This record gives sequence, C-alpha cells and structure tokens, in this order.
Amino acid sequence: MRTQIAAANWKMNLTLEQGKALVDDILSSPLTLDHHHLAVFAVPFPYLITIKEQLAGKENVFVAAQNCYSKKSGAYTGEVSAEMLRSIEIEYVVLGHSERREYFNESNAMLAEKVDLCFEYGLKAIFCCGEALEIREAGTQNSFVEEQIKESLFHLTPEQMTNFIIAYEPIWAIGTGKTATSAQAQEIQQHIRSVIAAKYGDTVAHTVTILYGGSVKASNAKEIFGQPDVDGGLVGGASLVAAEFTTIINSLK
Ligand code: PGA
Repeated sequence: MRTQIAAANWKMNLTLEQGKALVDDILSSPLTLDHHHLAVFAVPFPYLITIKEQLAGKENVFVAAQNCYSKKSGAYTGEVSAEMLRSIEIEYVVLGHSERREYFNESNAMLAEKVDLCFEYGLKAIFCCGEALEIREAGTQNSFVEEQIKESLFHLTPEQMTNFIIAYEPIWAIGTGKTATSAQAQEIQQHIRSVIAAKYGDTVAHTVTILYGGSVKASNAKEIFGQPDVDGGLVGGASLVAAEFTTIINSLK
C-alpha cells in the first residue's frame, strides 16, 4: 500500500508555546496512524528541535522543515541548508510551496537543485506544485503542473522517484476556503501519476505519494482523501486547530 500522509503546514503562524500546546492536543487524541498512515508537522525553523523532542517516542509522526536552500553551504545569510537539517535529524522538508515560488521567486530549476540536496543529505522532500487561477480558467492546468514536475524532478533516477512525495496544491484553493472538488483533485492527480508512469513506468508511479492541498478541513478531508490518486493532504489553516487536524489525520484512507 502507498504511504498516506496528513501534513500540517503551520507557515509563519504560532508562537513556540502555542505550537507545543497544539501538538500536545493532537497527540493526546485517538489517532489512526501506522506504518502506512503518517502525520507530519511542518513547523518554523526555530521550533524544529523542540517539536522533534516533543514527538520522541511517538511512532509514525514526524517533523518537517518548510524549506531549505538550494546551495550546500556558504555566504547565504539567513538561509538554512539541507545538511543543517540533517544534522538535527529532521527527516522531511516541504519544497516549492506556491508561497515560496511567488514571494521568493523559487523557479523549477532552483527546486531541482533543492531536491538533489535533499537526496544528498537523506531528507524526504514534499514537493509542491499547482496552478494559479488564470491557468485553471484557461484550462491548461495539466500541462502547467506537468512542466513543474518535469523541470524539477525528471532528472531523478527511478530509485529516487520511488516513494517520492508530491503535493498538488491549486493556488486558487490555498487559504481561500475554495477547495478543488474531489473530482478536480482526482483528475489532475491521476494526470500527475500518468506523467510519472510515462517516464518511470507504472510500478514506480504507483509508489509515489500524491497529496492534495488547498482548504482541506475536517469536513471535506474524507471525501478528498477517498479519491484513488489522493494519498492525503498538505493542510494550512485547518492544521492550526487541534480538533480539525485530528479529524483530518483520521480521514486518511
Ligand atoms: P490551506 O493551505 O489549507 O490554508 O489552504 C494549504 C497549504 O498552503 O499548504
């Protein structure tokens, strides 16, 4: 079975105390997690070590960074490298979120470099892709997302692509309350899997976890995650509310 993931993306929200209390609330609720059903908390850099310590001894729950830089090391004031994350034993990193693409000009080529550094240092990337509203309205979302994936990921070997994690997040659905319908999510995520299958074969494509992100909440998670090519979600706003995110975790199929 393909790994199903409920990933919380806190973005630039919560103080450390608020974040710890939120994690405590979630962990003290009954969670249906196992080897194939994981929860991941993508938290701000300064909280990584503390939240990782808080998760110590909990199985199938991980902490993630929200980004890392595209260079190995050096004079890049304010940036955080993949090697630094590895040195504090972080396992997951969100890459190429649309907010980073938009506000920090992250290109497909730059993301290809970040993905490579993640592999070099043994970090699992959660690679984000997704189209803006104009592209959806023009009906060219499939080719747009295909290009993002090809330009950032298609230099990877089949071994690297096996078990890779992609998050499809239509920008028009992020933080807007406008969720893609489960049929829209399924359609494009099936397309993403078919693009991977065309390059790497069905066996590899079948192992890739593809998350949906964009206004996932407790009330719609089960319906969206129930689609055959949706393997969980990357969740912003609703991940900041314990009861919401707990239900979202427990909605994984
Ligand atoms: P949202 O954000 O759930 O608040 O729409 C999702 C994301 O940006 O990852």
